[in-house]
Order: sequence, then C-alpha cells, then structure tokens
Amino acid sequence: MASGLHKSEVSNPVLRWIDARLPVVTMMQKEYGTFPTPRNFNYFWNFGALAMVNLLIMIVTGIFLSMHYTAHVHYAFDSVERIMRDVNYGWLLRYVHANGASMFFIVVYIHIWRGLYYGSYKAPRELLWMLGVVIFLLMMATAFMGYVLPWGQMSFWGATVITNLFSALPLIGQDIVVWLWGGFSVDNPTLNRFFSLHYLLPFVIFGVVFLHVAALHITGSNNPLGIDPKGPQDTLPFHPYYTAKDSVGLVAYFAFFAILVFFFPNMLGHPDNYIPANPLVTPAHIVPEWYFLPFYAILRAVPDKLGGVVLMFASIAILFVLPWLDTSPVRSMRFRPLARPFLFTWLVSFFVLLYCGGMPAEEPYVTISRVATAYYFLYFLVILPLLGRLERPLPLPESIARPVLRGGGPLPAGAVGKPMEKA
Ligand code: HEM
Repeated sequence: MASGLHKSEVSNPVLRWIDARLPVVTMMQKEYGTFPTPRNFNYFWNFGALAMVNLLIMIVTGIFLSMHYTAHVHYAFDSVERIMRDVNYGWLLRYVHANGASMFFIVVYIHIWRGLYYGSYKAPRELLWMLGVVIFLLMMATAFMGYVLPWGQMSFWGATVITNLFSALPLIGQDIVVWLWGGFSVDNPTLNRFFSLHYLLPFVIFGVVFLHVAALHITGSNNPLGIDPKGPQDTLPFHPYYTAKDSVGLVAYFAFFAILVFFFPNMLGHPDNYIPANPLVTPAHIVPEWYFLPFYAILRAVPDKLGGVVLMFASIAILFVLPWLDTSPVRSMRFRPLARPFLFTWLVSFFVLLYCGGMPAEEPYVTISRVATAYYFLYFLVILPLLGRLERPLPLPESIARPVLRGGGPLPAGAVGKPMEKA
C-alpha cells in the first residue's frame, strides 16, 4: 500500500479503496459499531437518535414543500392550500412537516428531561449540554418562523406579537423591530426573510448536532446510574445492542407519529390559521404553538413588558449555567432522594405553565402562572445549589455491571469481562 494511505480493514474492495483515502468507514465503525456504551441504558437513551431522525424528516419534507410554496403575502396562503389539494401527496408532506415539528419538540423535551433526571449535564458533559441548549434555541427560532409561512391569521398575529416583544428594550427596541420586519409592519419583506431563515436554520442545527454528538463521543454517554463505566464489563458495543434498542424506539415513534398525521393532523394546530392573514382583524386569542406555551406563560406572568421578555429569555438562558448551579457530586436522581421530589415539582410547574400559556391572560391563570414561574426559577437558583450541600445521597454502586448482574452483590469469580449469559 502506498505510503500516506490509511490501513483500511474493510473487506469490500471499493469501500476499502475509499476508506484508505478517506477513512469514513473506519470512523463509522469506531463511533457507531464498536463504540463502548454503558450496558444499562433504558429507553430514555433512545431520544437522541429519535431527534436525529426527526431532524432529517423535517429537512427532507421541508425541501419538497418549498418546491411548491410561494413566499409572498398574496400567494403564500393559496400556495399552501394548493399543496394540500393539488400536489401529489402534498397533504402528506405538509401534515408530516407540521406534526413533525410537534414530534420534534416532544422528543427533545423528553431528551432534555432525561438529562435533568440523570444529571447528564454535569461534568464532564457541560459543553455537550450547552450545545444542546443552543440547538433548542435554534429549534425554537426555526419553528416560530415556519409557523409564519402559511400566512394565516395566527401566522400573522403570532409574528406581530412576538417580534413586537423586542420593542420593550429601552432606546433601541423600536429600531430592532423595524429591522426585524424589514419595514414598518409584518409584511412581505418579513415573510421573505422568515422563509429564507427557515430554510437555512435546520442546516445550522444539523451542524451543531454534529458537534453535540462529537462532544458526546469524547466524554462517552452517561447512564441511569450516573456513575462512570469502570471497565469493559460495564459497556457493550453500540452495534448491535443499541442499534437494536434504538430500532424498537423508532417503531414506537413512527406509530405515534402516524396516528397524529393520519387521524389527528390538525389537533395540535389552531383553526384560525386556516383563515388568510388579515392585518385589520385581530383574533380574539392569539396563542403560540403548544411547545412555546410554558415560555409564553412566563412572559405574561410579569406585569411589566420588559420584565416579561427578560424573564422569558432567562428561563432558557438559565439552562446554560445549570451544570454550575447543581452543586451535587452525584448525577442520577436515583441516588438523590431529597432532590428528586423537587425535580418532579419542577416538571409539574413546567406543565402548569404549558396549560396556563394556552389560557386567556386573566385570573386565576395569571396568579397560577406567577407561582409556577417563581418555582421554575427557585428550583434552579436556590433549591439545586442548596441541596448539593445539604443532601445526603444514597450510596452509589461500585460499578454498572454489579447491580445489573447481581442485584448489587459481588460478581462470581472470573465473571468480569465475559458476556452476561456466561456470568
Ligand atoms: C436536534 C436536537 C438534538 C439531537 C438530534 C440530539 C442528539 C443527541 C444524541 C444522538 C445523543 C446520544 C444519544 C442519547 O444519549 O440519547 C445525545 C445526547 C445528549 N444530548 Fe442531545 N440532541 C438534541 C438536542 C439536545 C438538547 C436540546 C439538549 C439539552 C438542552 C441535549 C442534551 C444532551 C445530553 C446532555 C446528552 C448526553 C446524554 C447522556 O449521555 O446521558 N440534546 N443527543
């Protein structure tokens, strides 16, 4: 073999030729074949792979939709109706894309919850977590702009309300809003730039996901026990164990997705978005898509507009510093009996906010939103930092293999490193 080429062990001659010059096959084998992965993953560990599949579905359906979509205020609404009625399988493309956005947020919210419960954000995975938060912000921007594109009543008024939030910033607020709009109201330039950015951002997300997964493959995965693997007896090769387990999750995911698309395709949407945008008629209730509701509730919980905007952004920004707010050395909530109920209460506060965000801004929802908002921040800023110091965690298992194989008891002699059935 000529010098400078990679020594490829791939058996297929064509692949070997490529692999010797650009070792992508070797790299894939290393990262997704033999990659040592904790042996005790539960189904929560499916959701990263599901998010990846979801991202690809969104990109593919989005590309085909854009072949028939017209980003102009006079044609956008009708072009979407044409996709639904005249384009072959256009209805399917659109329903998969629209419900795919909801699926994406369901999957990513569960993915984030897994991180919170098992302490996956803690050292050494802080940067991996922060890249996740960047992805989450990009997802929200992309989804917001996507919802504007059909140019229905909710598209128009949602865009107006949310872009107007920036006007609360002192001095420069109004200029920022005009700059975002590209004019003096939400209009054609706004729709055009939103379409342009809505097409671009998923590829940016793709790039950040690459870094996210690259960072994961440096630190290795966390696991339900939150302890580090102590040796080969604690890990399994990613393939076939987790490719198989991820496939199980994928089937369940597609089943759920199909039920949404084929039986309840408009359940998560808003009927007002089937009315063409009309700048002269404001809908009675302007509500964002369900996945924004918790943050919308935080925004409305504060009587002052600027305060609301700041708190809403802070509710996500706080996730960036979470690895340093949680002072406990123990990752998994399984071993944190005191912190666990507080975390579940935080989850309740998140759902309460989600519910209140969809209700009119009146009593009792405003007061309930205020209490839930207060707890949302209290958990991160006070409870977690204090608990790390006050709590006595349960004793951690010595290794992953022990509790898996022997209910926490000692291993039989010679069992270490052998497949499970021989132990
Ligand atoms: C497009 C969205 C996302 C994709 C495609 C994605 C992809 C992945 C994949 C494939 C994994 C490894 C498999 C797994 O552990 O489930 C992973 C792990 C992880 N992700 Fe994400 N992710 C996304 C969003 C996020 C977000 C929003 C966060 C947090 C704010 C996040 C935090 C993490 C953490 C902490 C891990 C390590 C988990 C562990 O080892 O226990 N991810 N991600």
